[in-house]
Amino acid sequence: MCGIFGYIGRGRAPEIVLEGLKRLEYRGYDSFGIAVPGNPLQVVKKQGRISDAGDCAASLSGPVAIGHTRWATHGVPSDANAHPHLDCTGTLAVVHNGIIENYSILKRELVARGHVFRSETDTEVIAHLLEEVYHGDLKCAVETILPRIKGSYALLVIARGDTRIIAARQHSPLVLGMGDGASFAASDMTPIVEHTRRVMILEDGDIASLTPDTIQISNGGNPVERKEEIIRWSVDAARKGGFPHFMIKEIFEQPDVFSDTIRTLRSEDPPSLLKEVPQVTLIACGSSYHAALVFKYLLEERCRIPARVEYASEFRYFTPPVEGLVIGITQSGETADTLMALRIAALHNCSTLAIANAVGSSVSRIADHTILMRAGPEISVAATKSFIAELAVFLHLIDMIREGACAARLDYAHRAIDEALLLDLSLAVECCLPAKDIFFVGRGAYYPIALEGALKMKEISYIHAEGYAAGEIKHGPFALLSEHTPVIAICPPGDSYGVMMSNIREMKARGTPLILLGEKDDRDLEEISDVFIPLPWASSVAGLLSATVILQLLAYHTANALKRDIDKPRNLAKSVTVE
Ligand code: F6R
Repeated sequence: MCGIFGYIGRGRAPEIVLEGLKRLEYRGYDSFGIAVPGNPLQVVKKQGRISDAGDCAASLSGPVAIGHTRWATHGVPSDANAHPHLDCTGTLAVVHNGIIENYSILKRELVARGHVFRSETDTEVIAHLLEEVYHGDLKCAVETILPRIKGSYALLVIARGDTRIIAARQHSPLVLGMGDGASFAASDMTPIVEHTRRVMILEDGDIASLTPDTIQISNGGNPVERKEEIIRWSVDAARKGGFPHFMIKEIFEQPDVFSDTIRTLRSEDPPSLLKEVPQVTLIACGSSYHAALVFKYLLEERCRIPARVEYASEFRYFTPPVEGLVIGITQSGETADTLMALRIAALHNCSTLAIANAVGSSVSRIADHTILMRAGPEISVAATKSFIAELAVFLHLIDMIREGACAARLDYAHRAIDEALLLDLSLAVECCLPAKDIFFVGRGAYYPIALEGALKMKEISYIHAEGYAAGEIKHGPFALLSEHTPVIAICPPGDSYGVMMSNIREMKARGTPLILLGEKDDRDLEEISDVFIPLPWASSVAGLLSATVILQLLAYHTANALKRDIDKPRNLAKSVTVE
């Protein structure tokens, strides 16, 4: 949930780490801090955002630094709770992403032995535990204390006067980068890619010792080697590239993301598990859950394979009877609920398949098989291109089951996104701006698209929005409809068109402003609407893609007009690594 970054080399480490933390801010942004291991060890840490902090690293210097950008879990956002955390003597500094589950027991023991805590965080116990065993060999000290820690961690540790960074991983992602006379350690590749493309992904239990020219890794006390990988993303993919926000940049990347994902999956021959199973269970959270719901509709309707979709957070504690194939869908590959749910599925002897975006993420270590979507780094907290990439994976899987019956249509489907990107949505935005509540409705596979549209709207504009299956609106939510409550309805041609029109007329009778998405030249729909948005490729499955993009753009432009912090909405973080 937090971002950590460490650098050791011949450059100006505090500046390099500060810049790297800016790239990681999407993982958490309520406070940040940097430590350098001089004599004395120096720390700068503050509540607030790095982007607003100016040249706060100016007082620091040296060739080694570790830093952190936080999304609070234990203790409010404050200067004291910001990382790095130090031991009592100011000799050791730690940055940590994860949760120490047994921290309160450890803290009680440490306090009883005379340690003084300066923060409310779980992380600080690590610094004090190290203090008790550190006698000049930092790696040995880290190895000694880690067995006492229960939970998840990616951590970086430095000590006064020591010329190394020690990194350790357990259930939280940690990537190492090998540069020219410099080594890096980070929560993900985004701060590393501008320095080097050579990376290694640590495994659970790994402890690494970094110097400018060497990286030594051990696991369980034995030296281990980890495979070197080359990052293929362009540096621009992790930067805004002229767009005002990452979200709009990522929305515009979607035609390429869709076709790259389809093309790569075709060349890779993904596992054909789906052909052999009697039923499929899909588990996910948030936007990935909505994508899974789309898949359920398509899988059942087009392939006659029964599918159920469960929230990962529910599945974990209220596991239904489950057999066959369980698929976990997660952009980050680090969502704690989805990881735990997949572990439970494996305990029930199900085959497990992960659909993920981040290469080397934790989910691919848990699942029997992994399919990678090809969205590239998604920086904006609100998921957009990863949702389209998930749909691309699902459409490809359906095409595989149907032995290429949809291949030709998939070759062109990205054009639906291209066309949606060109639409002028200003009238629809005007209609949404004064609203306190907005309803999004659809039927069939457009119902989860409506859910996703509502999620995008509420998370970045802070306007309350609800997605509903259109037929459900009159079973309660009707009471809320008025001339101040816009309804956005997706109404493409098809079997449910007639009944959608009836629903829309019922809403019109309540004076509700109607923003309607339907086939171009649908005069009936246009006449009844307050704002009509022609849905590119409305009559094919690619209409799902264009409807998604329209609702993403509507949320984006509404939030922008309201001057919201679009890429970093309040209270949210990109990668939800806590349950
Ligand atoms: C919404 C959003 C979240 C994520 C959810 C799951 O815009 O980004 O709802 O979709 O936290 O994340 P992943 O897919 O990484 O498991």
